[in-house]
Amino acid sequence: MIEEIKKLISQTKEELKKGEDAAKLRIKYLGRKGRLADLSSLIKNLPVAERPIVGQVLNSVKLELDKLLTPKTELSPKQAVIDPTLPAMSLAVGHLHLITQAISKIENIFARLGFVRRSYPEVEWDWYAFESLNMPSGHPARDEWETFFVDEKKGQKGEVVLTPHTSSGQVREMEKGSLPIRMINIAKCYRRQIDVSHTPMFHQFEGLVVDKGINIGHLKYVLEYFAHSYFGVKRQIRLRPFHFKFTEPSFEIDVTCGVCGAKGCRLCKAGWLELGGAGMVHPNVLRAGKIDPEYTGLAFGWGVERVLSMSSGLKLPDIRSLYENDIKFLEQF
Ligand code: FA5
Repeated sequence: MIEEIKKLISQTKEELKKGEDAAKLRIKYLGRKGRLADLSSLIKNLPVAERPIVGQVLNSVKLELDKLLTPKTELSPKQAVIDPTLPAMSLAVGHLHLITQAISKIENIFARLGFVRRSYPEVEWDWYAFESLNMPSGHPARDEWETFFVDEKKGQKGEVVLTPHTSSGQVREMEKGSLPIRMINIAKCYRRQIDVSHTPMFHQFEGLVVDKGINIGHLKYVLEYFAHSYFGVKRQIRLRPFHFKFTEPSFEIDVTCGVCGAKGCRLCKAGWLELGGAGMVHPNVLRAGKIDPEYTGLAFGWGVERVLSMSSGLKLPDIRSLYENDIKFLEQF
């Protein structure tokens, strides 16, 4: 039977040579009621031991016949027509995510002022996130940070949290004991919040300067320099008195609205939009970081998503769209 199966190959070759149509031969040999099907129906009559061997031969002949009877679609060089004037097919090129682009723009602006980029843990001790920042355990000011706690054993530095703000890097930087400090910490933060202007995971950039003679004038200069470099010189900022436990005095910083040009619109209401917080580092925080009291410091912490959404010309009504992975949205930037 094996010989009979193998013979199908030479028979097919001969018929092809004679000019028989490949499509017809395909039906004749490989069709449902074709020669190969006939032969395979006989396998069941063979002794059990022989069946797998014959089956294997049958399969390899089937593949060979399929190859022989598949019409060749390649064009011969004579037939091939190449039109060199056709535009080349464009390659799909990816790009960095909108937030990654914003982060490198922010980093570069601060680098021009001598700020060095730092990174601190994303999963942090309570001590760095709150306690060392003048927010003792049980203090109501902590509520603002709507923190995620990690199911981990308490350590010497308290409970374990997902960093709710980049301010957790302040005392870590001070602990290094290398003065003066001029750092920018850009990192992921986490809070139990979600709406058009809040996501559970977001990014902040934290500036910290500690040196002799640092005052509010420096703070205002740095923030204005950033706002002009990022948004353009037409945008103005203002410092509005506020309260943070870790800065004294504290401010919230507003920028003139890029949509209405500070006239007042649906987005900004009165012409100003809030960017984030800032202030002069509280003496208790300097103490926690073991900084000599001769030194003073300034600090600010702003949301990357917030800053991005206020870029001139970018209308981003819902910051959640940044994290929905909708390629049609992301491709635009
Ligand atoms: C803070 O987090 C302070 N650590 C900022 C600070 C640093 C003040 C240093 C003084 C000195 P606040 O909670 O306001 O402050 O957050 C700052 C900014 O982070 C907000 O203005 C907003 O732009 C952004 N932000 C906060 N929560 C979210 C969120 N869930 N989603 C997106 N952005 C957020």
